[in-house]
Formats: sequence, C-alpha cells, structure tokens
Amino acid sequence: MQSNVIKLNREETPLINSLRTICQKKIYSFHALPISSFGHSDILPSRKIEDDCLEATITDEAFDNFFFPKGVIKESQVLTAKLYNADHSFYITGGTSVANQIAITALYDDKYNILIDKNCHQSVHFHSQSLRANVDYLCPDLVAEDGQLKAWSIDKLTRKALTKQLEGAGYDLIILSAQSYEGLIYDIPSVLLKLLQAGVSTRKFFIDEAWGSLNYFGEDTKTYTAMNIDNIVEAYPDLEVMCTHSAHKSLFCLRQASLIHCKGKDLLSHKIEVAKFRVHTTSPNYPILASLDLAQNCMRKYGNEVASYSRALVNMFKEAVNSEPELSLLHTEFEVFRGHQHIAYDPTKVMVNVRSLGDASEIKKELLKDNIFIKRTLNNHLLLNFHIGVNKEAVNALINGLKTIGNSNLKNCISNKFIIPYPPGVPIVFPGDEINSNITRKIRQCEENGLLIISA
Ligand SMILES: Cc1ncc(COP(=O)(O)O)c(C=O)c1O
Repeated sequence: MQSNVIKLNREETPLINSLRTICQKKIYSFHALPISSFGHSDILPSRKIEDDCLEATITDEAFDNFFFPKGVIKESQVLTAKLYNADHSFYITGGTSVANQIAITALYDDKYNILIDKNCHQSVHFHSQSLRANVDYLCPDLVAEDGQLKAWSIDKLTRKALTKQLEGAGYDLIILSAQSYEGLIYDIPSVLLKLLQAGVSTRKFFIDEAWGSLNYFGEDTKTYTAMNIDNIVEAYPDLEVMCTHSAHKSLFCLRQASLIHCKGKDLLSHKIEVAKFRVHTTSPNYPILASLDLAQNCMRKYGNEVASYSRALVNMFKEAVNSEPELSLLHTEFEVFRGHQHIAYDPTKVMVNVRSLGDASEIKKELLKDNIFIKRTLNNHLLLNFHIGVNKEAVNALINGLKTIGNSNLKNCISNKFIIPYPPGVPIVFPGDEINSNITRKIRQCEENGLLIISA
C-alpha cells in the first residue's frame, strides 16, 4: 500500500529537519523554557507535543542565528529567494506589520523625503511617522464602485515625483501598496520603469505585497510582481527594491509568518539584517519559521499547480453562476479602471453581485449558517477569495448555499414592487407581476450594461 505521508528531504526543508532533530533530543536547557519540555514535567501529566510544535528555544551553534543566519535558516531563505526571483529573502515571525517596519528602517536615512501611497497599511504610516520622516501622500485619483474602490494613476504618481524634484529635493524613498484586498494589482515593474524613464531620481522603493505572494506562481500575474525586475535592475544598477509578503495570507503558513524580499545593490541584504536586529522581537517563533520552510518547499513543488487550480475553481464557480437557474440572479462580471494598463485584477478574487438576491451583508450571514465564511462585502458584492486552501468541496458548498438562497427568492416570485432600470426609468416589473427567468435575465443584462436597478 502506498503511504500518503510526504517525506521531506534534508536539502528541501533544512530548517524543519534541524528543529525536528533538536526536538527529538533530550536536551536539558538551562536557558529560557522550551515548550517541548512540557511533557517532561515532574508535576504535569505526561504529553508529547514536540511533533505539533517545533519549538526548541535553542539558538546559534545548536541551530542557527535568526538575525545573522549562516546555517539552516540561511539555507532555507536562499531556497525561498530563488522561488521569488529575489536576490535575498528573509523570514519574519511578527507578521507583515513588523516586516514593513523592518523594510522601511532598512531603506530609511535621516530626514528622508518619502512619498507614501495613502492606501498603504497602518504599519507603514505609523512607522514613517515614528521615524520623523518628511512624508507626502500619494492620494488616489481613480474612483470606482460608488467610491469604495480607489487607485492612483501612473500620471499622478509621475507628476508628484517630478514636481518634488523641481522644488529642490526629490523623494528619497517611494512606498507603494501593490495589491488591495479586493484584488486590484498594480503592475509594479511597469510602474517602476515608467517612473525611471520619466526622469524620476528616486532609487529606493518599498512595495507592500502583503496579499501578493501567490501572484509569483500564476503565469497571468507573475509579470506584475515586485521581484520581476531583472531588466530594470540591469538598466538601473543603483536601485534598491524591497517587498513584503504576508505568507500566512496566501501560503500554507502559520499566522504572523512573513517574508521580506529584496533586489538591487549589494549592501541591501546587510541593511535588512541590521534593521531586523533592531526591530524584530529577539525571541522569534520557531513553529512559524518551520511553516515558512515548509511553504517554500510546498510552493517549489506545487506552486504553479495550486495557482492554476485556484483559477480552475474560479471558472467552475462562474460556470455554475451562468448555467444554474437558481443562480441566474447573480453575476460575476467585474471590471474596474479599464484603460489603465498599470492596473490588473487578481483572477483568484471574485466579486459576486448579489443585488437581485438581497442585501450583501444579509446573504453573507445566511451563508455562514452553512459554514461558508465570507469576510468582505462591497456595496452589492460578496468578495470571494479563491486561495489555495479552497477545494472543490468548498466551491460546491458555496454554490449550494447560494442556490438555496436563490431558490427561496425565486419561489416568492410575485413582485410587490416596481423594478425599474435607470436610465430610461421605465418599469420592467409591476406590483403583482411574476418574476420568471426571462425577467431575471433581463435584470441581469441591465446590470451588466451598467444600468441602475431600482426596486420601489
Ligand atoms: C496591505 C497590508 N500590509 C500589511 C498588513 C499587515 O499584515 P500582518 O497582519 O501580517 O501584520 C496587512 C494586513 O492585512 C495588509 O493588508
């Protein structure tokens, strides 16, 4: 019989293997308390938790130095860097809030002028403030979906940077957020290239790619990623580019597992290590480190496959919406900022317009009764994230959950209201009319054509 257990080779997950060996040894530690000693108490009942919890509180010679690694942490980080096309990668166990602070500290120098995308996460804003940097904000000038989705245009960014240069000193550092939770992705390589070609003198860029780790594994998204800049670094060798990933948001990692990647000048990696030493807790979490090691191995072997499978599940869901009568009131077409070539949309995020079924937050609550958890609603949309942990069973549960809601809506199909597309404002349903599939198709077409549907 074939075993389902995946055997991990030492070269593939060096960090985990070393931790496992340490945990299996009976080490009498007279340093800080290792959680693995739990089962060996003279008082507490015996229990073996080493296998679930690779925590040894062993450092340096016996394991590796977290801040200036030369052993297994280094080996694992090198494997990760290769995976992301980075010059160097660094493991962080305090979340991307901490990773962002480290990245900014590494790039920052006294009295720097910084331009920050206003949509950046709070960690960027708080940390820049505490460094007493001279901060200007890049405010979004593109607005969609009743004001809820915003983005900046390439023109606005370039103008802002060039104007600062004309005033005297340009921006020493530019900080951008690469991807929103809703799935808008900026094409970072093309943004950087356009800035540099326009004569912007900034050479330090920090890109918060917290939601974008999986983008490196999709053929349709890879080109937008911050480390996909080989040709730009070749043309501008004085560049220093860093990005951060919340590994726990899109890879199989424990919460607070985060990555910093960098590309550019040689000294950059040393600057990151020093900044990490200054900012990070001196007690890094080993189970989180182990999960980062496991994630690099998993993504090397299956990254492209799981990324393309997520897209296949998205297609399966969209096909169901287009073909199942109970889902005929829904639609998934969603395109914003058309014509702005530096903005793309993450194919693993799906916005489902549920306006014809009812209030999006009510539908979210209904779905939770079937154990389907959706975090974000946007106006009339449910935002679905088809991350790599979503499987066919989950998609079927979602389809069935929505069908149940759609069915109950279709059953009570005698309208007690006018339903009016605007413009032109002529009702297509009158009180007392039956809402049949013909009518729902018509409503859907109107919505797809951008008309407002008013029921009154
Ligand atoms: C864009 C962005 N950056 C940084 C963070 C902070 O990440 P963490 O929660 O891992 O500290 C978040 C959190 O959601 C985020 O959305």
